[in-house]
Amino acid sequence: MLPRIGSRCRVDRNRTPFYLSPCDPRDTGWPQTGRVTRPEPAALLDLATDLARRAGALALEMRAGVETLETKSSPTDVVTAADQAVERLLSEAIRQARPDDGLLGEEGASDEGTSGLRWVIDPIDGTVNYLYGIPHWAVSIGVEDADGTVAGVVLDPSKGELWQAVRGSGSTLNGRPLRCSSVTALDQALVATGFGYDARRRSAQASLLPTMLPAVRDIRRIGAGALDLCAVAAGRVDGYYEQGLSPWDLSAGRLIATEAGARVEGLHGRVAAHALVLAAAPGVFAALHDLLAAGGADQDPLAE
Ligand code: IPD
Ligand code: CA
Ligand code: CA
Repeated sequence: MLPRIGSRCRVDRNRTPFYLSPCDPRDTGWPQTGRVTRPEPAALLDLATDLARRAGALALEMRAGVETLETKSSPTDVVTAADQAVERLLSEAIRQARPDDGLLGEEGASDEGTSGLRWVIDPIDGTVNYLYGIPHWAVSIGVEDADGTVAGVVLDPSKGELWQAVRGSGSTLNGRPLRCSSVTALDQALVATGFGYDARRRSAQASLLPTMLPAVRDIRRIGAGALDLCAVAAGRVDGYYEQGLSPWDLSAGRLIATEAGARVEGLHGRVAAHALVLAAAPGVFAALHDLLAAGGADQDPLAE
């Protein structure tokens, strides 16, 4: 059973051997940790889920009156007070619960860690949707080891959708197992994509569309990469591609998609990364791959 939001004594001793007693006088409401550096993946998932729920509640609370606080890589790459507050909440809680783990957050949180585990967080994925009141944004938390993501959670608080995965154990939406689509014809495939914040990258991404659009059922730009990966997992789209993603966009969603049977890779056998992420149902992966490769979708216009 998942911990309830706001419950202080929520330790399941059978599943979370690394937690200290919740009745420790220093208890601040967060799970505590001992020095066990390799907890069960299911325990990591429980902790990530608890954190995502708290983070999602804070982001929802801060939605009223939201405005741009500052911009980052371009005038349209915005940061709101909620992005920063949610990342602060998550990083403080992770440092308290898992002090030996590493941490990487979009808004600057960064710790090396010594345990071999690293928490990779996007406090709000889909910030532009969040800013405009479009109810399609998410908190994304992935826990990684040397082999990739062990446990991942993406929470879409506006819709009450909780996406979860544990490596090797499948992925779920609100507890129900996920399977990506079985489509095999490219012209039947609904394909999501995303555009970066840099004008040169956007221009290159736009120049791929005349190749992609006539070949597929249609294209969607929904506005939150982590949720696009989840959409592939659920068969809500048949594929998703984007250049320029960062580790926090990918960490949890990649696991959720692969555990649902999707292929998540780069081009020419490379791993999914900044150069290109292609997530697709196995039946259309090769066709999408070849179209994207022909269009040079993994060439970085900023590197020229
Ligand atoms: C962005 C969203 C968007 C994608 C961008 C990402 P942010 O993340 O995932 O859909 O197209 O590449 O940077 O800035 O909203 O966290
Ligand atoms: Ca993001
Ligand atoms: Ca973000």
